Amino acid sequence: MLLLHLTDPHLFQDPEATLKGVDTFATLMSVLHTARAIHGHAAAMVLTGDLSQDERPGSYARLAWALEGMPWPAYLLKGNHDDADAMWVGLTRQPADIRTDRQFFLDNWQVLLLDSVAPGRVDGTLSAATLDWLERALSAHPRHHALICLHHHPVPVGSPWMDALMLDNGADLFAVTRRHPNVRAVLWGHVHQCFDGERDGVRLLSSPSTGVQFAPGSDAFALDARAPGYRWLELLADGTLDTGVCRVPDGPVPVPEPGEGLVRR
Ligand SMILES: [Fe+2]
Repeated sequence: MLLLHLTDPHLFQDPEATLKGVDTFATLMSVLHTARAIHGHAAAMVLTGDLSQDERPGSYARLAWALEGMPWPAYLLKGNHDDADAMWVGLTRQPADIRTDRQFFLDNWQVLLLDSVAPGRVDGTLSAATLDWLERALSAHPRHHALICLHHHPVPVGSPWMDALMLDNGADLFAVTRRHPNVRAVLWGHVHQCFDGERDGVRLLSSPSTGVQFAPGSDAFALDARAPGYRWLELLADGTLDTGVCRVPDGPVPVPEPGEGLVRR
């Protein structure tokens, strides 16, 4: 079964606003249409947070508008830039196939979406209730392979500034996954760059943002000129997976000088 991972669109309510010189709505549309052209047959899409940059209802309405007509349901998670109230207001009565289930099934795989947002903080945490729910979901379906999705990275990705903003209790997550060998992969957003690793037999993956990219291996905040994109994951019946990243064919988006903040065209 084919699953798509899009993350960190950082949309604005104001259609003129840009992030680091990037029109994040335009790049999201470009990524979505690329995904539809290449992977339109996918079973579902997961969007792992930072859906909005300004936390205003209109930014979520624009997300729903972008997703309308896409051939897959979109499962949404919050990120540290998201506001739950604005999200539900903005998404209400939108016709796009948007889902907020924390668990769904694709053949003999279950996909589990964990809320890792700590209110008022940029880094993340998994609450005791979330960890308990994960434990029970894995125990209830021992014959299903499992893919866990969340916003924050549970392991360092090699960028010290970003690794200061990771999940603060990744050890608790891996304590759960070690008890459940049916967990095959953990997938996250937040880092705006690709990561592909492994821990205790679990594949560890992150994906590019659909908008602004962060430079891998940076000690301090730095942008990357690589193009926006998404990850595809082919979840195979034997519990293995194939995966890859597609970037928009237009090439890299403009990268402003370091330190340049939010700008308007
Ligand atoms: Fe982000």
